[in-house]
This record gives sequence, structure tokens and C-alpha cells, in this order.
Amino acid sequence: MAPNWPEEVDVFSVPHSRMKELVQGYLDQMTSTNFSNVIHLTTLLKHLCDTFREFKVHEQIENKYILCKLRQKLRSLSIRNSAVCNCHSDNRLTEMLELVEDGFDWTWRPQADRMHYGFKLRRALEDFTQTFIPHMEEEEAVFQPMLIEYFSYDELKAIKAEVIHQHLTN
Ligand code: FEO
Repeated sequence: MAPNWPEEVDVFSVPHSRMKELVQGYLDQMTSTNFSNVIHLTTLLKHLCDTFREFKVHEQIENKYILCKLRQKLRSLSIRNSAVCNCHSDNRLTEMLELVEDGFDWTWRPQADRMHYGFKLRRALEDFTQTFIPHMEEEEAVFQPMLIEYFSYDELKAIKAEVIHQHLTN
């Protein structure tokens, strides 16, 4: 169903299209990676490092330019919303980035070790994806309507412009 607000005040959809493209990219690459091949594994790890760094930047931009503002607005209206307060508090981006960066140490180990690491990485990525996609859906379905409710059209237009600018320049 199409959202009830104009595209120019939709702060999540454009960045999330990019994040979903990145998710599809690593899912596709995972299925074609042969973990016993050092070049395959190294290529995957470089791609995942770039991807998870971009996820982190996305999260920092949301924190600074959307969620902080929403929390402040709710606080000024004496509204307490635990979903907004806890958004991003339990995500696994740092943990995933560490797992991926550790992977470079495994590229020089015996084939059986690389296969073991690959199995662990595959499971971690599947688990991460199962929470990351619903997380983005929650932002679009729950937080965007709150933004529409508590911010003016012009305020949201400015927030969206800043969010897009930050994604393009960070
Ligand atoms: Fe838009 Fe918090 O990921």
C-alpha cells in the first residue's frame, strides 16, 4: 500500500533502498563464495567491510538527524516511547564488523579452518539479515508516521534533505 505522505518528507525510503541493495549484494555474494578459495574469501571480506561500514554510517546519520530530533520532540511533549529510545541499542553492526575484520586472519589458515569461519560468517549474516530488514521496516512503518504527526512539512523536508546529503557525502 502506498504511504500517506509525500515522497519529499519520507526520510527513510531512499536510504533504505540503498541498504536493501547492499543486503541483496552480500546475500548473492555469499551463495557464490567458495570459502576454500583464498581470493574468493578475501574479496567477500573486503565487500562486507565496505557494506557494514556503510550500515554504520547510515545508523549514525539516523541517530543524529532523525532519532535525536524525534526524541527531543517527544520529550518536549512529555511523551515516552521505548521503541524510539531503544532504536539501534541492540543492533549488531559493531559485532558483525569485528567478525568480518577478523576474517582476514583466517585467509592464511588451512582450508578446513577457512570453511569453519565461512560457516560461522554465513550463519551470522543470516541472523543479522533477519533482524536488519524488520528493523528498517519498523522505522518506515512506525517512526515515519510519528515524524509526520509531530513535525511540520517544512521541518521534515529539511530533515530529509540533510539525511540524503549526509548519505551522499559520508
Ligand atoms: Fe535505517 Fe536504523 O536502519
